[in-house]
Amino acid sequence: MKILTLGNLNLAVADCGQGTPLVLVHGFPLDHSMWHAQLDVLSAQYCVIAPDLRGFGRSGPIDGTAPDATTTMRQFADDLAAMLDALQIDEPVVLAGLSMGGYIALAFQKAYADRLKALILMDTRSSADAPEVAAGRLTTAETILAEGPGSLPENMLPKLLSKATQQEHPHVGEALGNVMLRTSPQGIAAALRGMAQRPDATTQLGAITCPTLVVVGEEDAVSPPEEMQQIAAAIPDARLVVIPSAGHMSPAENPAAVNAALLEFLGNL
Ligand code: MLT
Repeated sequence: MKILTLGNLNLAVADCGQGTPLVLVHGFPLDHSMWHAQLDVLSAQYCVIAPDLRGFGRSGPIDGTAPDATTTMRQFADDLAAMLDALQIDEPVVLAGLSMGGYIALAFQKAYADRLKALILMDTRSSADAPEVAAGRLTTAETILAEGPGSLPENMLPKLLSKATQQEHPHVGEALGNVMLRTSPQGIAAALRGMAQRPDATTQLGAITCPTLVVVGEEDAVSPPEEMQQIAAAIPDARLVVIPSAGHMSPAENPAAVNAALLEFLGNL
């Protein structure tokens, strides 16, 4: 991994391969490693760039600098733009984001549409949080700051993974749980507060002009296929692919089907 210094932030970035740049933005509360099955396969044909977002994985404030209290989706998007500048990538990129990564991809699209060649929205939502969901995130942020991330795997994994993944591929949940346990409480709390205040992006969908792929696990209980279908229908040049035998973490649960969908989309750009 490379460590890029962007102002007061050290951003850790996995980048491999050559060709059209493909940026993979992870979900909450994870890091670039959720994409390992995509990094391996897609880097044979593309320049794949998978950062650890601010406050996650190995990315965080440089020593002596205070951690963020709140990280907005726009701040994460600005970090991606600064990352591309630091990597000297000025050609338009394909940007893929899963769940929170999708919220960030929509924030990037709003601010930097001219830097996008195509968009891939995976297991995500365009709507803002309902007030009770936003309030719950603020409470969770306080709990994580007080107690650490120890409760996250048990609370989150049953919602993130399909029943089949939980029963037949337990290593997927173990790997994701281990990342959660290593994540900084400050990074988690800042992202929770940022997600709680993210704007509704639904009205933005009709103005997306780049080719867009919408991907959802058929058993995604967090951002269900019906909701992703509505997102795809609202974007002028979008198509939807439903991934079998997968929940919310489709790239880790059924990597073969996700890689095939991504390669077909990328090949047609
Ligand atoms: C994620 O996977 O990034 C989360 O489910 C996003 C969220 O909490 O809304």
